[in-house]
Amino acid sequence: MKIAVLPGDGIGQEVVVAALSVLEKIDRKYGLKVETEKANVGGTAYDESGTPLPDATLKLAKEADAVLLGAVGGPKWEPLDYAVRPERALLGLRAELDLYANLRPAKIYPALVDASSLKREVVEGIDIMVVRELVGGIYFGKPKGVETLPDGTERGFNTLTYTTPEIERIAKVAFDVARKRGSKVCSVDKANVLECTELWRRVVTKVHKDYADVALSHMYVDNAAMQLVRWPKQFDVIVTTNMFGDILSDCAAMLTGSIGMLPSASLSGTKGMYEPVHGSAPDIAGQDKANPLATILSVAMMLQYSFGRLDAAADIEQAVTKVLDQRYRTGDIMSAGMSLVGCRRMGELVAEAIA
Ligand code: IPM
Ligand code: MG
Repeated sequence: MKIAVLPGDGIGQEVVVAALSVLEKIDRKYGLKVETEKANVGGTAYDESGTPLPDATLKLAKEADAVLLGAVGGPKWEPLDYAVRPERALLGLRAELDLYANLRPAKIYPALVDASSLKREVVEGIDIMVVRELVGGIYFGKPKGVETLPDGTERGFNTLTYTTPEIERIAKVAFDVARKRGSKVCSVDKANVLECTELWRRVVTKVHKDYADVALSHMYVDNAAMQLVRWPKQFDVIVTTNMFGDILSDCAAMLTGSIGMLPSASLSGTKGMYEPVHGSAPDIAGQDKANPLATILSVAMMLQYSFGRLDAAADIEQAVTKVLDQRYRTGDIMSAGMSLVGCRRMGELVAEAIA
């Protein structure tokens, strides 16, 4: 198992170190023979080599079986030109590795229910998987740009495009994922306004014919945003376009009250890039305050989706639950009566909880 490790910027550096200590423990326990190699990405890479995604990093990511990424970005690099912003590295990796299926689980931990801004009865037990198309749609559609018109005003434009094969492959992923969970897929679009997503709806409906055992529903994106905060437990798997998925996955994440807990997988078959949903949190970077659990849970997703090791993945998830039940908390999920620990200690605790 060859894993490219790209810690990136801000707290990315710390959370990845903590996650690797857990991976080491799992490697020893299951004899996985994990090989890791580190490379720079994001602003850190830009500072060193003038580009957020150096060729060597891309090469390493392409050759690896899986990629573990921390986070990219920070105020330091915000003034930079779009082409060399840290975020470009993320989009570049997604596109170059064709990581078209982004899986973002929003699952609430019983010990953390009160961290949600919504009422206990609304969020208790939620377990949603957002399946976001990741390499198409308006993020990558052409033409795009900003042009100056003859009268001196400017016009900005992006293009929303999806082809039948692009929709088919993401729909299949959603139905396959649903089969292993609650067997329900809600496809989110804006078919009442956007032709492109009218096609989306039609193709998803057609792919569904091969998945009679999975229930399919459709929802407009505005309604989906509302339903997510009204009664999130109605959802099992949500499948949607790149931009709608960007927005709805943040919303779903916050239902759990703790974005510091949420992992993600970006897949192309079994090849995948795994990263926490949270960002680089520059305000707390380098202070040993970050929550490494999302990255640790991303390692669990890696074991599950890239290496088919459901046993090892479940082991990590159980260890995380155990540490939370023992009342250990990082600052972001801290509440009265809990024991506050730093990033490194949290990593150690999870590693120790793996028997
Ligand atoms: C995400 C982020 C990225 C996105 C940004 C950083 C490019 O918001 O992964 O959700 O929009 O996809
Ligand atoms: Mg986002």
